[in-house]
Amino acid sequence: MLTSRRSFLRTATLATSALSASRVMGANDRIRVASIGLGGQGRGNAGRIASVPGVELAMLCDPDTAALDQAKSSHPGATTVQDLRKVIDAKDIDAVVVSTGNYWHVLAALWACQAGKDVYVEKPISHNIWEGRQLVQAARKYKRIVQGGTQQRSCPVQAEIKAFLDSGKLGKVKWVRCNHYSIRPSIGKRAATLAPPTTCDYHLWLGPAQDLPILREKFHYDWHWNWNTGNGELGNWGPHILDDLRNIVFRDKITLPRRVMAGGGRLGLGDAGETPNTHFVYYDTGDVPVIMDVHNLPRARDVKANDFYRRRRSSAFLIIECENGYYAGGRGGGKAYDAAGKEIAGFSGDGGKGHAANFIEAMRSGKSSDLNAEIEQIHYSSAWCHLGNIAYRLGRNSGFEQAKASLKDLEQWQEVTGDCEAHLAANQITLQPGDLQVSPLLEIDPARETFTGASATPEALALLRREYRKGFEVPEAL
Ligand SMILES: NC(=O)c1ccc[n+]([C@@H]2O[C@H](COP(=O)([O-])OP(=O)(O)OC[C@H]3O[C@@H](n4cnc5c(N)ncnc54)[C@H](O)[C@@H]3O)[C@@H](O)[C@H]2O)c1
Repeated sequence: MLTSRRSFLRTATLATSALSASRVMGANDRIRVASIGLGGQGRGNAGRIASVPGVELAMLCDPDTAALDQAKSSHPGATTVQDLRKVIDAKDIDAVVVSTGNYWHVLAALWACQAGKDVYVEKPISHNIWEGRQLVQAARKYKRIVQGGTQQRSCPVQAEIKAFLDSGKLGKVKWVRCNHYSIRPSIGKRAATLAPPTTCDYHLWLGPAQDLPILREKFHYDWHWNWNTGNGELGNWGPHILDDLRNIVFRDKITLPRRVMAGGGRLGLGDAGETPNTHFVYYDTGDVPVIMDVHNLPRARDVKANDFYRRRRSSAFLIIECENGYYAGGRGGGKAYDAAGKEIAGFSGDGGKGHAANFIEAMRSGKSSDLNAEIEQIHYSSAWCHLGNIAYRLGRNSGFEQAKASLKDLEQWQEVTGDCEAHLAANQITLQPGDLQVSPLLEIDPARETFTGASATPEALALLRREYRKGFEVPEAL
């Protein structure tokens, strides 16, 4: 009771301070930024934002003092705090960069919006679809500039690829395959819960997530592979690749797919992870079909090389199949091939190195339309990943014959299930009952961002959101 009253008061106070804290940035005003979350990506983001002219990296925040010390050595002038609520309450901080684990993204970003600060938030911008929409609403209500961390949206190559597709050289798009293939070993399986590092304030680290036993071996980073804190590999790489898809192929016109179906398993590991390491998804977009395929097993057993797709051997890829050839590309650019497989065009990018600068430019102009990765678009791209995960989690025990039969007329589904079967055979994995799970085809109402018809089961609807730990609830009403 006390906690909820305190959090009510906090929301009320923050809502008032939004008006006083926000200020319109002039072209020469110094912008004071706090970097929240200082693991691998957070330290990189801190460096990138600090190097934008006119920015002062004024505060560093992480519940783990070891991460704080490491970041402070690169930014000695910045104040350090363990509790991000101190950042939210700091009146002289204009913007925050949120690079925590996924489960903290929305609450940290939303509190910052309420306090009148602008936000750069890492991908996936949410841990579930409902809270992602809450963040978009908060950005609108508090009139904040909120940029999602899919930095390739700031890479000039994306416009070049769009122009090439528009030139008609490849003809019409027929379908799209999105792949991410890499190798991730077991995260271990402990008998007793892992003690957090002594340098880390666990209560602050946990925030909105549930206090569940941690049975993996490594505390940081491997939160990705438990549903309580992470969104698996689809939620890790998917936001980049599916954001490229939505931007380059659909020009942001398709918000969410109309139907989704997924299959996969966590195979060959026997560890404490819950998210699939083998995951294939079909998205019915109402336009061309889209397949996403994710593997974390090697190309073959005992081979230290990523799996590969017939069109191109690389880890993160968008393959756009067209009438007269195809485009295959990653974050750094790609190549176009004609129907005979001959390369006809090449594209190379800068990896989106101007993304932090684009955020600061939009802060100065005060126009969210100046952002290359405005929060609503990245909410949608993150939601595609959540839908693929929900479908997997609703899956039932299946074999490949059954999986293939469930979409027997969809050539691309036949291809991806066939690829997966061959991939598991190459890894000498024999499926046991329960190893492979495949979902039904789930119907989505894109406007309401929910399941519809027979797919709107209590189980499915529950996965659109989460139970928040007391004191760290994403507010229902803003
Ligand atoms: N855009 C990209 O290319 C890219 C690349 C890598 C990671 N990421 C994203 O960045 C995020 C961080 O990834 P990572 O690899 O650095 O993970 P990580 O586990 O190494 O680091 C996360 C850090 O956040 C800290 N943290 C946890 N709770 C916090 C809180 N309440 N306040 C402040 N800090 C808190 C942790 O202590 C840890 O230091 C993830 O969401 C990931 O998806 C994006």
